[in-house]
Amino acid sequence: MMPTANLSDPMEPLESLRSTAGARIEAVASIAELDALEAELVGRNSPIGAARRGLGTIEDADERRDQGKAINDLATEVSAAIDARRATLAAIEEREALAADRVDVTLPGRPVRRGTSHLVQSTIDEIVDIFVSLGYTVADGPEAETGFYNFTALNIPETHPSRHESDTLYLDYGEGTGDEEVLLRTHTSPMQARYMETHEPPVYVVVPGKVFRADEIDATHLPVFHQIEGLAVDGSITFADLKGTLAHFAKEFFGRDTEVKFIPHYFPFTEPSAEMHAYTKGQWIELLGCGMVNPAVFEQVGYDPDVYTGFAFGMGAERMAMVRHGITDLRALADPDLRILEQYR
Ligand code: DAH
Repeated sequence: MMPTANLSDPMEPLESLRSTAGARIEAVASIAELDALEAELVGRNSPIGAARRGLGTIEDADERRDQGKAINDLATEVSAAIDARRATLAAIEEREALAADRVDVTLPGRPVRRGTSHLVQSTIDEIVDIFVSLGYTVADGPEAETGFYNFTALNIPETHPSRHESDTLYLDYGEGTGDEEVLLRTHTSPMQARYMETHEPPVYVVVPGKVFRADEIDATHLPVFHQIEGLAVDGSITFADLKGTLAHFAKEFFGRDTEVKFIPHYFPFTEPSAEMHAYTKGQWIELLGCGMVNPAVFEQVGYDPDVYTGFAFGMGAERMAMVRHGITDLRALADPDLRILEQYR
């Protein structure tokens, strides 16, 4: 039988591996490095892999078995050391990742600047709330209207000056003329007719919204502003109800000691009609238009004027805000300058 290990001892590189592996494994600082070292120490091309392949050349069965066992023992020992190191490194890497991701919940937050309603919007909301607390509902309607709802249904004659182009903004929409003509509503009153057409009495409704007029901008005019319309229709409504309701509104909005007076006026859609003035901040000031619903309007919408009576009113939201806050230039309310607006947060 030929000696098998006559040129060099095949266990020789394994001996040096055994003596250095432990220290090398401990020296590795990451799992990635450890994976590379594992291939080097116990992989197919490692001295252990080579020694395993060399086993086939050992002819003596006992010697082959002994060497095979020695190789396996060494491989098991080295692999166990690698696994232990891998567990340690995984724990370290996880701890470092957690530390890197840590959120300091005790850091002061970045303050979020809170927005706020514009003064005109908060004025509308407040006015609407006063009427809601009296049992009124809230409706809204189209800003683009027809001549019919904006004028005719409200008993405003074909010849009325407000129908003129110099007062009303007409839209270039469709072929209609007169009642069919499309325009930007000049007041919220058209919703009186629209609401009554679609609801049976009793009616207690307020309608806030934008209105439009062909006005030059100055301290008291804007081409776009806001109104709040009111309408009450029931079996036996009188002018006393109108006065009581609007006096209550004025006291709620301007303060308990606010006095009001009603001065006769003319509106085509109410009869009789009045302007309500209020005494506030030391002077009488005109607040709104109002009156008893004209029976002609009831007839337009199919309400029997012998059965129902009602009152209506319309006020400008910007005007209410100006009177309450002593604002003298309407343009302040259309100015986006936050220094103006923040005074009325
Ligand atoms: N629509 C009127 C305007 O814009 C205001 C008004 C007056 C509304 C009398 C009404 C009312 O409902 O009864 O000037």
